[in-house]
Amino acid sequence: MKTALAALGLALLPSPAAAQTPDTLRDAFDQCFLVGTALNRWFIADEVPGLLDFVGDQFSAVTAENAMKWGRIHPEEGQYAVAIPDRLVSFAQANDMAVVGHTLVWHSQTPDWVFEGEGGQPASRELLLGRMKDHIDTVVGRYRGRVHGWDVVNEAILDDGSWRPSKWREQIGPDFVEQAFRFAHEADPKAELYYNDYNMTAPGKRDAVVAMVKDLQAKGVPISGIGMQGHFGIGRPSMEDFTAALDAYGSLGLKVMITELDVTVLPWPENLAVGADISSAAENREELDPYTDGLPEEVARAQADQYAALFRELVARKDFVSRVTFWGVSDADNWKNNFPVRGRTDHPMLFDRDLQPKPAFDAVMAEAKGCSGG
Ligand code: XIL
Repeated sequence: MKTALAALGLALLPSPAAAQTPDTLRDAFDQCFLVGTALNRWFIADEVPGLLDFVGDQFSAVTAENAMKWGRIHPEEGQYAVAIPDRLVSFAQANDMAVVGHTLVWHSQTPDWVFEGEGGQPASRELLLGRMKDHIDTVVGRYRGRVHGWDVVNEAILDDGSWRPSKWREQIGPDFVEQAFRFAHEADPKAELYYNDYNMTAPGKRDAVVAMVKDLQAKGVPISGIGMQGHFGIGRPSMEDFTAALDAYGSLGLKVMITELDVTVLPWPENLAVGADISSAAENREELDPYTDGLPEEVARAQADQYAALFRELVARKDFVSRVTFWGVSDADNWKNNFPVRGRTDHPMLFDRDLQPKPAFDAVMAEAKGCSGG
């Protein structure tokens, strides 16, 4: 009996392994929010040995970097390319990860045919709305119950708070946002539905997004969350703007997510608006590409500090922050190597080009102390 009790007593003590600090992002932030990554087509197709194992260990959510965008998944009318998206969804299911669908209605990476009617004229409201509904029915319907949430509308508002003059808005009218959310909800009533945009900390855009969401809520439109893309830099955004935006979105009673996080270390080309408008571009010049031989220690430190400050504020708001997704896995695959200047060597992520953790990784992991159990 004594031995049995002793055995029981021992079993109730945490084992040394369980008492250790978690060494993966997904475990460390388990009690706070999902931690996701974006995967490009080569990763999803498992063409990079070991990469998917690493992803399954570190992350609890995945987004397709491009494969679910209209131009990829629905390149011609009625033709859907689902091989890569299907693989992503199976991979996520096998690894107990949430899938984020990105994105249904966006002005970029959407083929011209979508907006064209007879004889090359702009499609009528009815035609374009019909195409939007077919697309959403097909794509959201296919992954019904397997995609956790969708970026339903991406980038509808400009930094100054005015509406982006996109073909969606011009040809359908101001209700295109509402219609997209209603179609998505019909196609998968249980999926979370998000509005997603960049520069979401800019006060003009922030206030306009809050006003738009209040209007949607007043009309009973099914919106469940707000995605702040999070293409940031060292010292950008200020923590004042970051927390003001988080709190403004959180006060709407919705989930708030960072959906495409990266912290560039490279200079922003002068004469180019800071942001993530994928049509922005500038020529490469030597002074715009200072770290081709590696990241100097002091810059790695400054980047780590920025990441730590961001995560501190996110952890403090774990009640309404539901996910933080990085826009890529390592410095090697992040899009900032080619945006807004092609062919630079950026170092925006937590893992370096050999998938080794950088100071930013340790800094982020240290913030997990704010998650109970983490
Ligand atoms: C980017 C991808 O990372 C690139 O591979 C692609 O060439 C362009 O789009 N905002 C978004 C993302 O919502 O879909 C964009 O992704 C980055 C900006």
